[in-house]
Formats: sequence, C-alpha cells, structure tokens
Amino acid sequence: MEEVVVLIVGAGPAGLGTAACLSQLSVPYIIVERENCSASLWRNRAYDRLKLHLAKEFCELPHMSYPVDAPTYIPKRLFVKYLDDYIERFNIQPKYLTVVQSSTYDIDGKYWSIMVRDITSDTIINYMAKFLVVASGENSAPNIPMFSGQETFPGVAVHSSSYKSGSVYSGRNVLVIGSGNSGMEIAYDLVTHGANTSVVIRSPIHIMTKELIRLGMTLVNHLSPELVDNLLVMMSNFIFGDLSKHGIMRPKNGPLVLKSETGRSAVIDVGTVGLIKKGIIKVQGRVIKIKGKTIEFEGGDEASFDAVVFATGYKSTTNMWLKNGESMLNNEGLPNKEFPDHWKGENGLYCAGLARRGLAGIAIDAKNIANDIKCNLDSLFMSG
Ligand SMILES: Cc1cc2nc3c(=O)[nH]c(=O)nc-3n(C[C@H](O)[C@H](O)[C@H](O)COP(=O)(O)OP(=O)(O)OC[C@H]3O[C@@H](n4cnc5c(N)ncnc54)[C@H](O)[C@@H]3O)c2cc1C
Ligand SMILES: *[C@@H]1O[C@H](CO)[C@@H](O)[C@H](O)[C@H]1NC(C)=O
Ligand SMILES: *[C@@H]1O[C@H](CO)[C@@H](O)[C@H](O)[C@H]1NC(C)=O
Repeated sequence: MEEVVVLIVGAGPAGLGTAACLSQLSVPYIIVERENCSASLWRNRAYDRLKLHLAKEFCELPHMSYPVDAPTYIPKRLFVKYLDDYIERFNIQPKYLTVVQSSTYDIDGKYWSIMVRDITSDTIINYMAKFLVVASGENSAPNIPMFSGQETFPGVAVHSSSYKSGSVYSGRNVLVIGSGNSGMEIAYDLVTHGANTSVVIRSPIHIMTKELIRLGMTLVNHLSPELVDNLLVMMSNFIFGDLSKHGIMRPKNGPLVLKSETGRSAVIDVGTVGLIKKGIIKVQGRVIKIKGKTIEFEGGDEASFDAVVFATGYKSTTNMWLKNGESMLNNEGLPNKEFPDHWKGENGLYCAGLARRGLAGIAIDAKNIANDIKCNLDSLFMSG
C-alpha cells in the first residue's frame, strides 16, 4: 500500500488542470494515466483537421493563458503544445501506462483504496488516498449503436475516434452516421478528399457559425440566455436560410439553453452545410437496416456503401472501476447533480470534466476541487 493525499485518475485536460491547481496550493498528489501520453484523446483519437470549436478565451486551463499571438480558434497541434507547456510549467508528472482497475471507499480507515495496474511491468499497485479525483473523461470509450444486419456489412466501419483524414476514402461511397460536430466535420473532410459522402441526421440540430457562438457566449454574460438564443437563431436563419428542406430541423430550445440543459452542443459549420445545399453531401434519416453493402434508411431510401464512419459519440467508463461512487455519479457514470454542484461527492470524492461543459467547465471544476481539498486539509490540520 502506497499512501497518497490525492489521487487523480486521467491525464487529459481535466486531470492536468486539477493537478496544476493542487500544486499552486502545495497539496501533494499523484496522477495516473492509462495511455502512454497525456491528453491521448487529442494526440491519438482526433482527426487531423480538428480545431477547438470555441474561441481561445473559453478554452483555457487554470493559471495559464494562450500566447497572445495564438489564433482565435486553436488548431489541434497548438492545443497539444499548450498542454505540453502546461505540464512543464506546473511540473506535472503523470504515471503513464497505469490503469485504475478498481476503487473502493474504506469506511473504517476513511480512505479510498485504489488498485492500479502498471502495464509496463505488469504489476498491481495499491494506493490509499484521502481524496480521489475522477478525471477519466466523458469520452472514455466509443459509443457505437448496433443496427440490424450490421454484421453483414463487408466494408470498413470505424468510430470517429479512429478517423484521421479522408485521404484513404477517395472515390469511395461513405456514410457518416451522426450529425454532431465530429460527424458534420468528417463529412466535409471526406468530400474534400474526393469521397461520395452521405450523412445520417436523426435529430434536430442548431447550425451556427463559430463567430455566432463566440458572440453568444460573450453576450450571455449581460443578457438572458433566451434573449441571446433568439438572436442567434435569427442570425443563423439569415446566414443559412431554411434548412428543413435539406433534412436539418432546429430544436425547440435555443442553442445556449439546449447546451446548458442537455449538454448537446450546436453544430459549428465548417462548410458542410454549403455542400449539403449543393447536393454534394446527401442527407439521410435514421438507419433502418443493413444488408451487405446496402443500407436502408427511414423513408425507404437505400444506397450502397463502401465504408461507414460512426460519429455517434462516447461514453464514460468510470462505473467499470469506481465503487461507492453513488453519491456523485449515476448509472451512466455522469454526475447526479446539475452544474454547478456536480463536482463533489461524499468522502473526499470529486469529478472534473464530467458536466458536458468543455474546457471552460473543466477549468471551473479543477479550481473548485483543489480549493475544497485544500480547505479540508487545513481543517484536518487545525483539529489536530
Ligand atoms: C472531437 C472533440 C472536440 C472537442 N472540442 C472541444 C472544444 O473545441 N472546446 C472545448 O471546450 N471542448 C471540446 N471538447 C470537449 C472536451 O473539452 C474534451 O473532450 C477534453 O479532452 C475533455 O478532457 P478530460 O480531461 O475531461 O477528458 P479526456 O481528454 O478524455 O481525458 C481523460 C483521460 O483519462 C484517461 N483514463 C480513462 N480511464 C482511465 C483509467 N481507468 N485509468 C487511468 N486513466 C484513465 C484517458 O486515457 C484520458 O487520457 C471536444 C471533444 C471532442 C471529442
Ligand atoms: C503510444 O501509443 C500509441 C497507440 O496507442 C502508439 O501509436 C504510439 O507509438 C505510442 N507512443 C510511444 C512513445 O510509445
Ligand atoms: C453517390 O452516393 C449516392 C447515394 O449514396 C448514390 O446514389 C450515387 O450513385 C453515388 N455516386 C457514385 C458515382 O457512386
């Protein structure tokens, strides 16, 4: 048993932000990461053309800004560089290739008992931690739905997290399933690489420009979200026109209200909508069934495809290793309580980055958690 004050699970942005805040308060911690590097989602599981969707002022981790000459919308490569600088600045030393396998609360001893596996040496290490921070991400494992007949599909089927670029799909018929930011951007990327592309749009979405979202996120500090939403929808309709004839419906709630109530983001158009309007990208309704290369859609359309990209999101895997976490997380491994009260459970348990609020939410969580741990330690110390 190794004794530690704080154990942080995951060295993505949330784990790194929490580590930096703790070190600013001189609280000792260790941070473990299952992959061979920090922020593996960004380094190994994101497509090449990805840029941060939100302007840089909404994407900072605590205690460190982007360089003044950084572009407003940070490309993936620069974001990774920022994280590397962050790690160096706060002297964060994650234990890589170290997977948390189980974690239980010891009521008598009043500590978290955490079992981790060191992949390199194939050994088990047990930690005793006063505080446990879950920073293992909302995007821990791909979420792939099963369609009837899927096993008969002979072509390539990949999740968006394995998609790098459309270059390998040139001249192919490709179906993108899912119309969030990843799906819509991958569809665009496929066309630029010469793929014959279709996209499944199942539910209503808000199409916005990145500038509109930036404006909205700024205005909402002064005006009500409903008012700002009305403005955004009006401007978006003006820019994009009526998209319902192309199979794109708008949700009832506005983009900011929808984000804060359900965590669903607006789709920030990178050029996909223009291609849809020109008929270059074809829009389909939900998938009904798959038979060999033929995929049948709602409404009776069917077409033949060489490849399918599942841009169907992710799921948390926290519940696979965290026991006694009911005070904080539900069956899906996501917080029980609404933002901004979601980050703290019982017995020194915390979560960072699980409130579907992106990097801005992560920065808030990290500060709250570190301050709370510091307060707890101070009062333990005072009471002797
Ligand atoms: C394609 C994409 C684009 C995005 N763009 C933006 C954007 O522009 N702006 C924005 O604000 N947000 C954006 N987000 C959302 C969010 O900011 C990112 O997902 C961010 O990386 C979340 O950070 P995280 O640390 O919470 O999770 P992650 O980055 O997923 O990090 C969690 C880490 O925990 C590790 N881990 C998991 N389980 C274990 C275990 N059992 N033991 C040890 N380690 C474990 C994982 O390997 C991972 O490295 C985007 C997300 C995606 C998927
Ligand atoms: C880290 O792992 C990835 C795959 O998960 C691999 O492609 C890469 O080469 C590894 N890097 C190092 C430095 O081992
Ligand atoms: C492109 O895809 C559409 C719909 O999936 C299909 O009808 C069309 O025949 C394809 N075009 C070519 C050149 O394969």
